[in-house]
Amino acid sequence: MNLAELNKVAAAMVAPGRGILAADESTGTIKKRFDSLGVESTVDTRRDYREMLFRSADAMSKYISGVILYDETIRQNAKDGTPLVKLIEKTGALPGIKVDKGTKALPFCPGEVITEGLDGLRERLAEYRGLGAKFAKWRAVIDVGEHGLPSYSCVAANAHALARYAALCQDEGIVPIVEPEVLMDGSHDIDRCVEVTQWVLKETFQALFFNRVALEGMVLKPNMAVPGKKSAKRASVAEVAEKTLKVLKACVPAAVPGIAFLSGGQSDEEATAHLDAMNRMGALPWHVTFSYGRALQAAPQKAWSGKSANVAAAQRAFGHRAMMNGLAALGQWKADLERKAA
Ligand code: 13P
Repeated sequence: MNLAELNKVAAAMVAPGRGILAADESTGTIKKRFDSLGVESTVDTRRDYREMLFRSADAMSKYISGVILYDETIRQNAKDGTPLVKLIEKTGALPGIKVDKGTKALPFCPGEVITEGLDGLRERLAEYRGLGAKFAKWRAVIDVGEHGLPSYSCVAANAHALARYAALCQDEGIVPIVEPEVLMDGSHDIDRCVEVTQWVLKETFQALFFNRVALEGMVLKPNMAVPGKKSAKRASVAEVAEKTLKVLKACVPAAVPGIAFLSGGQSDEEATAHLDAMNRMGALPWHVTFSYGRALQAAPQKAWSGKSANVAAAQRAFGHRAMMNGLAALGQWKADLERKAA
């Protein structure tokens, strides 16, 4: 393992004022997004949409440090025949790849899932490296249920899989994004989210240690501490920022170069405001930025709606969200910047 090289890539992924574009929706997930816009999901429409994002030169070169791709996309060419990976590299951003194979029901743990994809992973990582991937992503999913969920079995099995994946990545010269996502579905309050997030992070870092993962060569992609979507008890921006940082400081060693949050179903502006508030709270032991899927793409997707005539408007919408989140990663975002653009 060349840890200096891994650390350099990890540091670039969380460079000040930049964050990661999660464009790694599986074919099923992007179909759902396109369905809601009335756009047919085909190999070509998926290519056109993602090409539109990667050709947003201003957004990509100023605010995006890396792009997480899906298997189909890392092999795909733009309409003019240029590999999409080359378009990304030209902007200065790093190409990355989602390598997990999604979730399956966890036996004897009703309602809970385990992320699969370890079999053959070493070989797939070597191939992806050849295709230009500098980093990878694996997402574990933890549901905060009404009746005592998550179970120990679910938390431990997912932490173990994340750590096995991360070790394989580092051994193959690829920086792992370690993503243990505590879902914001459900009616639990913010304190229950904090409690579960703390447990999940403790288990994850213990598994990373036992699997000999070098913390300097990874990026953590956690959820923020937020109330469940159906919780009647809402939390202010300041409360989310404070509670999220408290749990991260208690669980994430300073050797980790950066934390890049998922948006997880927060609105675009909430995701930006929360990130900004954390970065305003003063000196943190790691860089704190975004690795957003929905919170970066909802606006450009809507503006695009499958029409080539809308490409410029969609790129403006993407540029705006990228800039807002780039500012939030520096603690320099202001709500009235949103109003001005609207
Ligand atoms: P969201 O920001 O939409 O949660 O997506 C990030 C991601 O990559 C989930 O795995």
